[in-house]
Amino acid sequence: MKSKEICCIGAGYVGGPTMAVIAYNCPKYNITVVDSNKSRINQWNGPVENLPIYEPGLKEIISDVRDKNLVFSDKIEESIKKADIIFIAVNTPTKTDGKGRGMAADLTNVKKCAELIAKSSSSDKIIVEKSTAPVGTGEKIKTVLKSINSKNKFQVVSNPEFLAEGTAINDLMNPDRVLIGGEESREGFEAVNTIANIYKQWLPNNKIILTNLWSSELSKLASNAFLAQRISSINSLSALCEKTGAKINEVSKSVGMDSRIGSKFLQSSVGFGGSCFKKDILNLVYLCQYFNLPEVAEYWHNVLKINEYQKERFFDKIHKSLKDIKQPTVSLLGWAFKKNTNDSRESASIDIAKKLLENNYSVNVYDPMVNDKTIIDDLNNLSVLNLEKLNIFSTVEEAVQNSHAICILTEWDEFQSLDYTFLSKLMQEAILFLDGRNIIQKDRVAKIFENTQSIDT
Ligand code: NAD
Ligand code: UDX
Repeated sequence: MKSKEICCIGAGYVGGPTMAVIAYNCPKYNITVVDSNKSRINQWNGPVENLPIYEPGLKEIISDVRDKNLVFSDKIEESIKKADIIFIAVNTPTKTDGKGRGMAADLTNVKKCAELIAKSSSSDKIIVEKSTAPVGTGEKIKTVLKSINSKNKFQVVSNPEFLAEGTAINDLMNPDRVLIGGEESREGFEAVNTIANIYKQWLPNNKIILTNLWSSELSKLASNAFLAQRISSINSLSALCEKTGAKINEVSKSVGMDSRIGSKFLQSSVGFGGSCFKKDILNLVYLCQYFNLPEVAEYWHNVLKINEYQKERFFDKIHKSLKDIKQPTVSLLGWAFKKNTNDSRESASIDIAKKLLENNYSVNVYDPMVNDKTIIDDLNNLSVLNLEKLNIFSTVEEAVQNSHAICILTEWDEFQSLDYTFLSKLMQEAILFLDGRNIIQKDRVAKIFENTQSIDT
């Protein structure tokens, strides 16, 4: 096979790991990952201990393939020009202004990529929509390409990414499925097969699903909506558990053992975070509204409303327990939106910390992976006055020193093995232990803290 040139625009949480795994499994493909953020590219080219994102197993793969068949570069046009296949893996955040503000996906980055591809190309190419985008985006990319460049032929294929952060390498090596959607024409079919051939280098045919463009785009939004809906379902029941004496872990186990339901994504929590669920559900809700399906829109919107409700309930629990303390200090253990990632986008910790700081609490934060700058940036819309009461520490011991409450907000493994008796002695008063992830057996801490709660009690 002639070696193929791949370019990936976007060196983020998706572009970096995905291209690393493709490079690892496909030595005959030469891959260049480009990004407009030069310092991110420099970091990808720097020591593997300091890559811009943390994922278990990533640095080993990068060490193996970097500067062999995987290159990180800021020369975007040049890389586009020589590529046969271009993946677009740029961020598609929620719109902050204009029509659809606060709900629809902002496709500015995708559109810019399409324009640059059209302008920089002098040969035919397959464009792969890897970013999560609303139904119809593939068509829009095609329109932009055609309007700027009529000389070359472009086929647009949708290949959404299903990796979860913290398990990205394993998810990419052993995905449940790979979805590829294309135009229903001979050329479309050929383009879909070209992309399928990449994945066939390490995956069996039956894991690769071929669909049309729209099914592929909608399946991605639908998958995230289903996953988030399960979390909101169990979280809504955790509120009912508190009223009735049922225990959410027992309910979750009983429900999940029904093989028709399954046990995954039924862990009650302080609320889901991450850069995808909220954004993609808002996007789905907007699409339903746009197509005049208000009942469907409302159905999915409730998944997000329960998530907000859960975070508010969590804050109320803290507030109730500490309301008589004059200068209360709360230690938050965990800032990442889940374990094994340095990503804190939409983390529940941000909302909890904001509410605490706005209500004059002192807040001590510890996270093993998220750096101080990110934590401060996450709270950047708070006033300087509120931020004065924020302290970030590099050990759990320092973070709990002189506090009144310990709240677990990320399910980092290290929090399970902590000596809470010892930690309680460092506190000003061990008034509250609040486990937002249900990872600590309550009887283990019950005698240590005045008030020991998890999300359902
Ligand atoms: P990210 O913010 O980590 O990375 C995106 C990168 O694209 C950034 O480095 C940015 O500088 C770059 N970029 C933006 N516009 C550019 C342009 N015009 N030219 C060159 N570079 C540009 O985002 P991410 O988390 O990797 O997500 C990318 C897409 O994948 C999104 O659509 C997201 O919804 C989807 N997705 C994310 C995940 C996840 O777990 N993070 C999983 C599946 C799908
Ligand atoms: C999600 C999807 O899982 C993935 O397929 C998609 O490609 C991107 O979005 P991600 O956001 O990285 O992945 O992590 P995920 O494991 O889904 O967790 C999202 C949030 O839900 C986290 O805050 C996590 O703690 C929370 N969660 C997850 C729960 O609260 N309970 C659960 O049972 C599972």
